[in-house]
Amino acid sequence: MTVLLNDPVTRTQAYFDGEWRAGARTFEVIHPGTLEPIGAVADCTADDARRAIDAAEEALRAWRQVNPYQRGQILRRWHDLMFEHKEELARLMTLEMGKPITETRGEVHYAASFIEWCAEEAGRISGERISMRQNRKRGFTNAEPVGIVYAVTPWNFPAGMITRKAAPALAAGCVMILKPAEQSPMTALYLAELWLQAGGPANTLQVLPTNDAPAFSAPFMADERVRKLTFTGSTAVGRLLYTQAAQTLKRVSLELGGHAPFLVFEDADLEKAAREVVGSKFRNAGQTCISTNRIYVQRAVAEEFTAILTRLTGKLVLGDPLLDGTGVGPVVEQAGLDKIQAQVQDALQRGARATVGGTVKEGLYFHPTVLTDVHPDSLILREETFGPVAPVVPFDTEEEALRLANASEYGLAAYAYTRDLGRAWRVAEALEYGIVGINDGVPSAGAPHVPFGGMKNSGVGREGGHWGLDEYLETKFISMGL
Ligand code: SIN
Repeated sequence: MTVLLNDPVTRTQAYFDGEWRAGARTFEVIHPGTLEPIGAVADCTADDARRAIDAAEEALRAWRQVNPYQRGQILRRWHDLMFEHKEELARLMTLEMGKPITETRGEVHYAASFIEWCAEEAGRISGERISMRQNRKRGFTNAEPVGIVYAVTPWNFPAGMITRKAAPALAAGCVMILKPAEQSPMTALYLAELWLQAGGPANTLQVLPTNDAPAFSAPFMADERVRKLTFTGSTAVGRLLYTQAAQTLKRVSLELGGHAPFLVFEDADLEKAAREVVGSKFRNAGQTCISTNRIYVQRAVAEEFTAILTRLTGKLVLGDPLLDGTGVGPVVEQAGLDKIQAQVQDALQRGARATVGGTVKEGLYFHPTVLTDVHPDSLILREETFGPVAPVVPFDTEEEALRLANASEYGLAAYAYTRDLGRAWRVAEALEYGIVGINDGVPSAGAPHVPFGGMKNSGVGREGGHWGLDEYLETKFISMGL
């Protein structure tokens, strides 16, 4: 397949204040597979942001009054349209950020599942009756939309990280202004187009790409009318936005960095554990917040496990992400590749050995890699990698494994493989992480209804299921005297 400039799936105009707009300036979106531009997208400004907020204020007045069952029906049509356009969406995501096409097809299902869940749940948003201490009073709660939401989303799941935010927001009766990642704005624009086709009213979901995030975000952070910030991205940017959001006391959801440990105990099914590590580590070329980043293996089985992992990793096909047979594609950009190379170099200099991979193939393609004999001070054991590199470190006792696993500022996801039921519970409870996979390397797969989010420096709040919906609802107490 050839990558075309302005391929039929690409989208370049921003959508705000009721219209598709070309923008006074544009910026290029690059396909990481070939480093060719695929189109030039509207580069929105702070003035555009202010117009979008004004338009959102008006849209909110009407949308919050729409019957929740009707909101659910529009969401349902949005979901169905995603499936009608599954191939275009998958191709677009692959063009924008280089994830293999088999994975982006899966992402269409994953992203649509959040919409489906919220479509069904919209009509169940309600309140409670509260017994009052005075006979002459009646008490109730009412669940009401938080209001205008500013969403900032990442490139690693160009559709899934949008629908995981937009679906609950829209189901709750909120309106959203979305700033997609500059690497993957076109998927966001395509989703906005489908939302409008589904019957979503004007300005309930506005999408404004920009190449100058700090200047563009400033009006949202300062504006009292914007009542919620939802962000997925780095801990550094999340912290900055959190501070800014404090000035207007916005509700905040932050899904930030991770540094997931994967513990393999000596009683584990090693073949199965290694397959799960491959799934967790190498999907999306390791560019997933819940990707395994550190693999701790009990010493008695460390050598055998490493051999299996090396064999499975060596079979992964690194190549053109638009081809069906590709298992691992390029990483998204040069800065990401530089970080991966720096971590691998640092580990090798401290005495590590690559049992497979360890080098760049070409362009942004890094060979899937397994490292052994990794020194405890190595960068790769301390920082998120966001790349296809699996460092394996031996441990002796359960206590030591837990100490190593928890020795991180991050607390997003952790994994453990064991057939001992008692240990499984002990370990699940002791891991200081928001998501724990016991004998499960991809706990979020096919699960729009479960809570997703982190502890410590991995974030604030949860997405998915009723936890995710609650983030967009205010609880109002109504007391009525008779
Ligand atoms: C993420 O990288 O944060 C999303 C991963 C997932 O939903 O599985």
